[in-house]
Amino acid sequence: MLLPGYRSIWSLICKTQEQSFRSVVARVSFYENWQQSVRTPSLLGWILAVQIGDAQALPFESGSFDFVFCRFLMEYLPDKQRAVEEMVRICRVGGKILLQDLDGQLVWHSPEDPELQQTIERVANRLASTGFDPFVGRKLFNLCFEAGLAEIKVQIDPYHLYAGTIAEDQLDLWQTKLAIAKPQLEKALGSDEAAVKYTERFLGYLRRPDTLTYSCLFTVSGTKPARSKI
Ligand SMILES: C[S@@+](CC[C@H](N)C(=O)[O-])C[C@H]1O[C@@H](n2cnc3c(N)ncnc32)[C@H](O)[C@@H]1O
Repeated sequence: MLLPGYRSIWSLICKTQEQSFRSVVARVSFYENWQQSVRTPSLLGWILAVQIGDAQALPFESGSFDFVFCRFLMEYLPDKQRAVEEMVRICRVGGKILLQDLDGQLVWHSPEDPELQQTIERVANRLASTGFDPFVGRKLFNLCFEAGLAEIKVQIDPYHLYAGTIAEDQLDLWQTKLAIAKPQLEKALGSDEAAVKYTERFLGYLRRPDTLTYSCLFTVSGTKPARSKI
């Protein structure tokens, strides 16, 4: 994502160990005098700085980045519109915003296992109160529109696609993902036992030779217009 012509970029890159609801946000910049918590000289003269922050209240000045992007974040945020507006706020006029998120993750399977599907919907409904939305991909366009972006472009690509027994390396990823989500699953399903049972059933479904699981990746980009309201 280090694009020629862009001098400063903001991106949400990963979570911290201490506060799972917050992320390390990175500022990639040519400017050497920027105050930062960590600074690492990187290739091609770029400077990478990282800073802890909440995407719904970014710790950066307005108009200070040429390019702002985030991936797989909106699906978890309680206030998605505010987060997109924050991305627009820290972007300069004429700068670009890019968001990527999934649609259908966890929930799209065929043929459906009725018991599993019911549990998935129960979990998704319970997690909705935390901001979780497995169908956020399709909503990115409107979030960008409401934030006043111009020249909005939308692209959809397949992301998860398991037709038949899932490959071992992919299964490992799902195991990890479900292990991370276990505290939430316990809350949603009421007990440790129920969370373990759901996890086993989900992984068992992915191992089946007769099932298809899929999701789509939405990539939405736009430009901050001269008369931005934000
Ligand atoms: C699925 S991970 C995506 C990580 C990375 N962006 C990527 O593409 O692989 C979602 C990340 O969102 C972070 N997150 C959740 N709520 C947040 C918030 N309010 N502000 C900033 N980050 C948040 C989590 O800590 C987690 O690291």
